[in-house]
Amino acid sequence: MCGIVGYTGALEAAPILLDGLKKLEYRGYDSAGIAVLGKDGIEVSKVSGRIENLVEKTEGGRLLPGNAGIGHTRWATHGAPTDVNAHPHVSNDGRFAVVHNGIIENYIDLRDELIKNGYASISETDTEVIVHLIEMYYAGDIKRAVIKASSRLSGSYALGVVCTDAPHSVFVARERSPLILGVGLGENYFASDVTALVSHTRNAIYLDDDEFAELTPDSITVFNCAGQPVEKSVSRIAWDIQAAEKGGYEHFMLKEIVEQPRAVKAAIAPRIKDGEVVLEGAEMSKEYLSGISKIVITACGSAYYAGCAGRFAIEKLCRVPVKTDLASELRYDDPLIDEKTLLIVLSQSGETADTIAALREGQKRGAKTLAIVNVVGSTIAKAADYTLYTYAGPEIAVATTKGYTTQLAVLYLFALYAAKKMGRIDKERYDSLLSSLQAMPRRIQEAVDMNPNIPALAKKYHKSRSVFFMGRNTDYSVALEGALKMKEISYLHAEAYAAGELKHGTIALIEDKQPVVALCCNDRITEKTMSNIVEVKARGAEVLALTYRENKKMVALADDTMFIPLVETLLSAIVEIVPLQLLAYYVAKENGCDIDKPKNLAKSVTVE
Ligand code: F6R
Repeated sequence: MCGIVGYTGALEAAPILLDGLKKLEYRGYDSAGIAVLGKDGIEVSKVSGRIENLVEKTEGGRLLPGNAGIGHTRWATHGAPTDVNAHPHVSNDGRFAVVHNGIIENYIDLRDELIKNGYASISETDTEVIVHLIEMYYAGDIKRAVIKASSRLSGSYALGVVCTDAPHSVFVARERSPLILGVGLGENYFASDVTALVSHTRNAIYLDDDEFAELTPDSITVFNCAGQPVEKSVSRIAWDIQAAEKGGYEHFMLKEIVEQPRAVKAAIAPRIKDGEVVLEGAEMSKEYLSGISKIVITACGSAYYAGCAGRFAIEKLCRVPVKTDLASELRYDDPLIDEKTLLIVLSQSGETADTIAALREGQKRGAKTLAIVNVVGSTIAKAADYTLYTYAGPEIAVATTKGYTTQLAVLYLFALYAAKKMGRIDKERYDSLLSSLQAMPRRIQEAVDMNPNIPALAKKYHKSRSVFFMGRNTDYSVALEGALKMKEISYLHAEAYAAGELKHGTIALIEDKQPVVALCCNDRITEKTMSNIVEVKARGAEVLALTYRENKKMVALADDTMFIPLVETLLSAIVEIVPLQLLAYYVAKENGCDIDKPKNLAKSVTVE
């Protein structure tokens, strides 16, 4: 939800800001703008639409000369994506400009107060009040004004501020929205995420909530809300530049799909030592694990579906009840979470507002929390009692792929780890599942290689108005994610059903040539799913089956097939999803969709 960048140094700021915004465009892409401290004050340029429009309007930044500035790419919350509502917003006296990622919940009251005090608002945004507050509180000390203005805000914010009275400085503030400072030589940066920093510097300072900073070309001063300096350590960014580039692929999404063998290996390999799962950062004692009465997994969207798929492995192996709860619902449900509950929180970004709120709700009720997160130093990673990183590398496409599979990989590792600690799995089963898990990167590669027909299937099915996905048990959990991938990037209506449920209502929608993607990779219930396939076929459906080559009956029954290699059923979701990701990708491509930046979406959902 919105990306912000800032620069101060010897170089021209505008091209650097534009480049940073391109890297952050996945966070929001309905309008964009930059403000540069030029010779004659603050120069602002903003446009609705993509960053490319801004590049064109500013002639690659040349029209805004100056060595310090701030930029913003927007996912509209308050006010339509127009030029006026785009950030940066400028104070009435033209002295300050502000960019903001987050939501100001009390902006209506603040706006009324500001109007009474003679400050005119021109946009419909919540953000604009911030710049007017800073102007109102300014009495010669910019730091003080930023601190005072921030103290009036309820909600979440990462702010970038420039002021004509400090032409070489940029100021930042953070509260519940990500903000990272990039430490350079004779130049300094800030950004919402490290992807905008890695081409300039690998040295980063992660700001915490309620912290502020002033960046000049030669210094970074972090301070607290009392204005006192705060000591911060400089961390090394592990992601490399190539990881955030397309690397010859037409879309980030395709690159990230085919990258999955490597990403899953990075999640698994360092955590298996001498035939044992070792979870550094989440070591739990036998006493603790044996004392928990249940596990609750919470997350949003695809991360939630990863939880639904991973639940089976944890419950079956640990023999502990595992419940999945949508993070956006959990805290409104007076959840049965207490100190005997382990709350597992899944999040690629580590910044999803509802997931953060669910984590805090769990902690409030006494549960220990385990976060499975991709982005290092993110809010969720820092807030949880235990954190396991997924090591997927930067995921740029808005629709997650390697984020999902690496979350699953870590859930499987945890299932094995906990089952062993609790003494609930025998050695033979443990060893066999562990070697199946170690083989998953290869199996995922095979699932990519054995489906060269998917582009042709996409040509056949892309004009359908809707697609049903069905499966039972683990297959059903994958069907949920398969349907989400299809709808979010191809805009086809797609729904997933537990196969046995179709005839309890939805079968009324099956008509001639209705595509039904049938997942049939769970041996125990193959026959049952096949009966459901026969039922929909009898009503004219065209069935596209996802199964094993060895499942001859299924291959004969289906109209079309996609395959996965033979894998252990309990862990199969991590492989099964891959052909469905490819199917969604190629259908979206056939339909000419903007695959990496689907309409109305943003990568990191930092509003509730
Ligand atoms: C779908 C997708 C979203 C995210 C969800 C949670 O492709 O990417 O559904 O999974 O917004 O995001 P994280 O994992 O960052 O908490």
